[in-house]
Amino acid sequence: MTKISEEIINDIRKKTDIVEVISRYLPLTKKGKNYFGVCPFHDDHSPSMSVSPEKQIFTCFSCGASGNVFTFVSNYEHISFVEAVRLLGNKLGYNLEHSTKIENPHQKDLEIYKLATKFYQNNINTVLGKNAIKYLEDRKIDRETIKKFEIGLAIQKVSLTDYLKSKNISLDKMIELGIANNTGNDIFVNRIIFPLYDLSGNIVAFSGRIYNTKDSSKYLNTKETPLFKKRQLLYNYHRAHEHLRKNDYIIIMEGFMDVIRASTIGIDNCVATMGTSFTKEHANLVKKMTDNIILCFDGDAAGEEATISAIKVLEEIHVEPKIIRLEDYKDPDEYIINKGKDAFINKITNAISVIDFKMQLLRHDKNLKDINDISLFLEETLKELTKTKDEIVVELTLRKMAQEFNINYDTLYQKYKQYDQTSKVNRQDNQVVVKKNDTSKYQYEKAELSLIYYMLKDSDVINIVEKKVGYFPTPTVRYLSNEIIAYYHKYGQINEADFISYISDKEELKPVISNILSLDSRPEFNKEKTNLMEIDDYIASINKYVKNKKIEELEQSLGNESDIKKQLEIINEISKIKGVKVW
Ligand code: CTP
Ligand code: MN
Repeated sequence: MTKISEEIINDIRKKTDIVEVISRYLPLTKKGKNYFGVCPFHDDHSPSMSVSPEKQIFTCFSCGASGNVFTFVSNYEHISFVEAVRLLGNKLGYNLEHSTKIENPHQKDLEIYKLATKFYQNNINTVLGKNAIKYLEDRKIDRETIKKFEIGLAIQKVSLTDYLKSKNISLDKMIELGIANNTGNDIFVNRIIFPLYDLSGNIVAFSGRIYNTKDSSKYLNTKETPLFKKRQLLYNYHRAHEHLRKNDYIIIMEGFMDVIRASTIGIDNCVATMGTSFTKEHANLVKKMTDNIILCFDGDAAGEEATISAIKVLEEIHVEPKIIRLEDYKDPDEYIINKGKDAFINKITNAISVIDFKMQLLRHDKNLKDINDISLFLEETLKELTKTKDEIVVELTLRKMAQEFNINYDTLYQKYKQYDQTSKVNRQDNQVVVKKNDTSKYQYEKAELSLIYYMLKDSDVINIVEKKVGYFPTPTVRYLSNEIIAYYHKYGQINEADFISYISDKEELKPVISNILSLDSRPEFNKEKTNLMEIDDYIASINKYVKNKKIEELEQSLGNESDIKKQLEIINEISKIKGVKVW
C-alpha cells in the first residue's frame, strides 16, 4: 500500500469537521466552546468525551482516548489510520482507492504469488491431489475450507518453476521471491500448500506441510523477504479484522491450522503467530483492532511459556488480555475436533483474567493443605495482584482468597496494601535512576509534559525549547519533542490536529500524546496566552534534573574507579558541570 501524501491527509482533515463526523456515530451536546458525548472507547456512563471544533481534536477525560478525526474513525470502525483517511477522503470526492492500488511497488510480485497459488490450487483439484485431499478430509478440512483458505498442493510431477517460466517470469525473480532455488528447482515439493497473507490479505508467502512422506521438517516456509516478515505478520489478520464489528475481541493462536479449524465452527476472529513468539509488532497490530485480546496458545508447557511472555509484551502497551488454556489438548485444533464447537465457545466465554492465570501457575508446585505453602501462595498472589490496575479485579480476587483459605478479608487487604506500596516505590525506581524521595523527579516529569503541551500550541515555545532544552530525560517525550521540531521545520507552523496525523504510525507515542492532550481539561492549562515565565521555570527544572543526574552518575563511577588519574578526570568533569573551579 502506498502512502497517501501528508498534504492530501491534511487537506482532507481541513475539509472535514470533527464535530459533524463524530455526530454521525453518537449524539454530542454543546457546552461552552466544546461538545460533549458519551465516550465509545470505554464503558462510559456520563459524557466524558469532549470534542473541540476549534482544535479539531477529541479527548476523553476518563479513559484518555484522544486524537483527531482520523483517529476517531479508525478506532471506532476498527480500521487503520490510513483506511480512515481513505474513507473520509473518498466521501469528499478523492479517489484514493485507485491511486494507491496502481502505485504499489510490489504489485508485480504479488501477482506472481497469486499465479503460484492458482497453480497449487489447480494441482490439488486434479487426480494428483487425491492423497492430499484425503489427508485433509481425514483431518476434517472439507472442500469449502480448502477453497476459503486457498489451500493447494506442490507435487514433484509438475514444476511451478517451469510453469512460471512459461509466463515469462525470470528465474532470478523466482529465487528472489523464495519460489525456486539456485538450481532452478521448486522450493516446495510434495507438500500441501497454505498461502500466507499480509495484513491486507495479499498472498506474500507459502507454508508447505508434509502429508504422505517423512521429513524432518513438518512445515516449510518461504524465506523472509521484504513482503514476508514473520514477526510482523499475523495469519488471518485481514479476515479477523472484518469480523470484529460482530464480536469485538480477537483470539491469538499459534498455528494457522488452529485458525482454520476455528473458522470451520464459525469463529473467524482468530489470528496466528505461526510458531514464532508473540512480538511487540504483533501486539501493536492487535491493539490497533481492539483492546479485547484472548490468548489461546497450545496446551503444552511451551504454550504456557508463550502465554506468559505474550502477557509481558502486552503489558508494555497497557493491554491486559484474557487467557484460554486447553488442559490436556495439544492445540485449539485438537480441542475443537475432540470437544466440539460448544465446548470451545464455552472456553471463550469463560476466558480467565491474567491474575487467575498467574494464580493457576503459582498453585502448580504447591501443596495447598500445607500452611507454609498456603502462606507462600498468598504472598506470591498478593504481589502479582499489585500489578493489576482494575480495582474490581483486586477486590474480587481478595474475596475469593479470603473464602478459599478462610482468612479475614481485612487482613488480606492490609497485606495487599503493604505490597502495593512497596511495588509502587519499586516501579518508580525502575523508571529513572534517582534517589528515593527526590521530589524533583515529579517536577521534571510535569515540566516535560507541560512543555510539550505548549509546544503544540505555540511555535514560540518550540523555538525556546530548541534553544534551551538540552535533553528531555524521558525517552518517549524526547522522541515526541524531536518530531514536533521536525514537523515545525517542515511546515513552518504547528497544527495539533495535523501533527496527530503526522505521528499516527508511531504507536509508542500514543500514551504520552494522550496524556498531553488531556491537560486541556485542567484549569491551570488552556489559557489564552502562553506565560513565558512559566516556560522558563519548566526548562530550568528539566535542565536541573539532567544536570543532577549526570553528577550522580559521575559520582557513582568515581566510587568504582581505582586509578588516581581517572579519578581526577572525573572530579574535574563533576566540577565543570557544577560550575565550580577546583584547579
Ligand atoms: N511452524 C513452522 N515450521 C515448523 C513448525 C511449525 O513454521 N517446522 C509454524 C507453523 O506456522 C505452524 C505453527 O508453527 O502453524 C505451529 O506449529 P505446530 O504446533 O507444530 O503445528 P500445528 O498447528 O499443530 O500443525 P499440525 O496440526 O498440522 O501438525
Ligand atoms: Mn496441530
